[in-house]
This record gives sequence, C-alpha cells and structure tokens, in this order.
Amino acid sequence: MKSELTRLLDIEIPILSAPMGGAAGPDLVAAVSNAGGFGVIPLWGKPVDQVRQGIAEVRALTDRNFAVNLNLSFPYEEQLKACIDAQVFAVSLFWGMEPSAIEIAKAAGLIVMVSVGSAAEAKLAADAGADIIIAQGWEAGGHVWGQVATMALVPAVVDAVNVPVVAAGGIADGRGLAAALMLGASGVWIGTRFLASTEATIHETYQQTVLGASENQTEWYRDLYDVAWPDAPHRALSNATSRKWHMAGTPAPGNRPGEEEVIGQSPNGKAVVRYQSYTPLPGTTGDVEAMSLWAGQGVSLVRDILPAAEIVRAIYQDAKTAMQSGQAKLPDSDSRSSSSENN
Ligand SMILES: Cc1cc2nc3c(=O)[nH]c(=O)nc-3n(C[C@H](O)[C@H](O)[C@H](O)COP(=O)(O)O)c2cc1C
Repeated sequence: MKSELTRLLDIEIPILSAPMGGAAGPDLVAAVSNAGGFGVIPLWGKPVDQVRQGIAEVRALTDRNFAVNLNLSFPYEEQLKACIDAQVFAVSLFWGMEPSAIEIAKAAGLIVMVSVGSAAEAKLAADAGADIIIAQGWEAGGHVWGQVATMALVPAVVDAVNVPVVAAGGIADGRGLAAALMLGASGVWIGTRFLASTEATIHETYQQTVLGASENQTEWYRDLYDVAWPDAPHRALSNATSRKWHMAGTPAPGNRPGEEEVIGQSPNGKAVVRYQSYTPLPGTTGDVEAMSLWAGQGVSLVRDILPAAEIVRAIYQDAKTAMQSGQAKLPDSDSRSSSSENN
C-alpha cells in the first residue's frame, strides 16, 4: 500500500535521512535511498560547481530519488538553479520562508520540501506550493528552527495543511515512527540515529560519545557555538566546552572562557578553535570531545553503529511490528464500573 508521501517520492519506506552538514555525505544519502527510504544531501553554502559535484556523487551511487538541502540564510539562488539544471528530483529548504524559492522550484518540476517550526509557517509554505512539510520539533539535533516539541508540533501542522507532513526531532527507532504516524505524520526525518551509521562522515570519538549519551545530555543553545549564519540556535551534546561556559555563568559570545583557544585540527590541517561550529570529521585531531557535537534528545535510543540500510529496515520493521501487534492498548473506559461491580 502506498501513501501520498511514498507515492510522491516513489519510495517504499517512509523514512527520510535528515541532511546533516558535515555528517551526511553521498554514501549515507545513497544508502538510505537504495534501502527504499529517501536520502537528503546538504549542499548549501557551497559554490555551484560543488553543488553539481555533490549531485553527481550521489547519482554515481544510486539511481533512486533523493533531495538536495539548501539553507535560505545563505545565497541560494544559483545553487537552486544548479539543482534545476541538474534536474534533481527534490529540494529541501530550511532556515527561513521564501515563497519565491518554492515557486521557482515547483515551476521547474521539482518536488519541494520545506522545514518548519510552526503550523503558521507550514501553511505559508503549503500555500506557496510546497509538496511536503517537514515539522522539526525542538528535540532535534543540529540547528533547531522552532521552539515547539515534536509531540505538539506534528498534529498542529497536520491540521494546518493538506500536504504530507514528515515528523522530525527525537525520532530514532520504530516506536518513534509508529508514534509519528499516530500523530498524523506520513513519515519521519531522522538525523541523530544516522550519526551512528557506518556511512556517517564523523570522527570515531563523536560517534562513541553519541552511543554513550543519555537523553538529558544534549542542550539547546541560543549561541554557544559560532554558527556561520546569524540567529541560529542549536542542540548539541554537553561537553567540556559547554561545562566551561556554564561554570562562567553562560556569558555571551565575546566573553566566553577560552575563546580563540585552539583545541584541535581538521584533517586539512586547519586549526579548530573552541566554540567553532565544526562537525568533527574522521582524521580530526585534538580534543574532539570539546568540539560541537550536534545531537538530538533521541540520542539515548542510539546504541549501535549499523549500516544505514539496516537502520532503515530495523526502524520500519519495528514500527510495523508495534502497530500490528496491538502492543499499545487503551484500558476499557468502563473498567472502573466493572471493577467496582466485581468488588
Ligand atoms: C549533525 C547534524 C547536522 C545537521 N545539519 C542540518 C543541515 O545541514 N540542514 C538541515 O536542514 N538540517 C540539519 N540538521 C537538522 C536535521 O535536519 C533534523 O531536523 C534533525 O536531525 C532531526 O532530529 P533528530 O536529530 O532528533 O533526528 C542537522 C542535524 C544534525 C544532528
């Protein structure tokens, strides 16, 4: 049975891998699409030739559909044009609302996904022609656009629009997929779980820290890390850097302890300084634990590193089992009177 979402994307499994700048490269995106889900590759903030190259790299690994993720806080017009010229199947737009970008992509025949943090934004995007809405809850890892938790956001967005809604934030296993569907979503958009995939392009220490973290070890920060665009709150794992900052009374940028301190080097030999927005890649040296380790609250559900295709299959299968087994049961509403009758 196909849903409107799986029909639109021509996929079998309603699991989308979230674009994760620095962590989700062509291998991860293609693996998810090849497994019957849908991969999304972040190519924002890059020169046009690198956008073309990123698209070509995914295409070399899969003939299935995928989307290119663009950040509306950066110049995106030429990058969008490159996506159109390359006839990518879909674009995913985040961090802002640009009806004109939606219209341009739609007019060129692309499927358009828009990430939102409220029902009002979802309506604006759908009215401008968006095909799919990504409702990103506050639990999410990485850059967090809204303030509303997934549990409350998803049904509010579902009620506001007539297009498929995909739930994001805190979803990392089959129970999360089943719950999102019960809230009215048509699928899920998963980031943190895929950090612990064999295809994620992140440093081993980052991956191991994710595996060991509990649900209360991430924090939402307005401006702890120096994100490359203004006003960009984020969620990351608490670490030596955040503890240092808390101990100093959470001062604003400019007054944080240890600013400009070099804490490591990227694989190309560039210094990584404390508070830098830097996703540690394999080959990074230095104090990796103290770098910006983006992760969502669902991190406590991530306990093993698996190939992305296995993650997709396990989440789908576990959701199916949970839904078919009827393991969630409501007590009979008349149980009170019947139990008193028994007394
Ligand atoms: C390491 C990391 C990097 C991210 N980078 C991006 C990005 O480049 N573009 C984007 O739209 N969202 C980005 N996000 C947010 C995800 O798209 C998604 O909303 C989030 O991961 C969902 O919540 P979850 O992490 O609990 O699964 C990032 C998330 C993480 C964890």
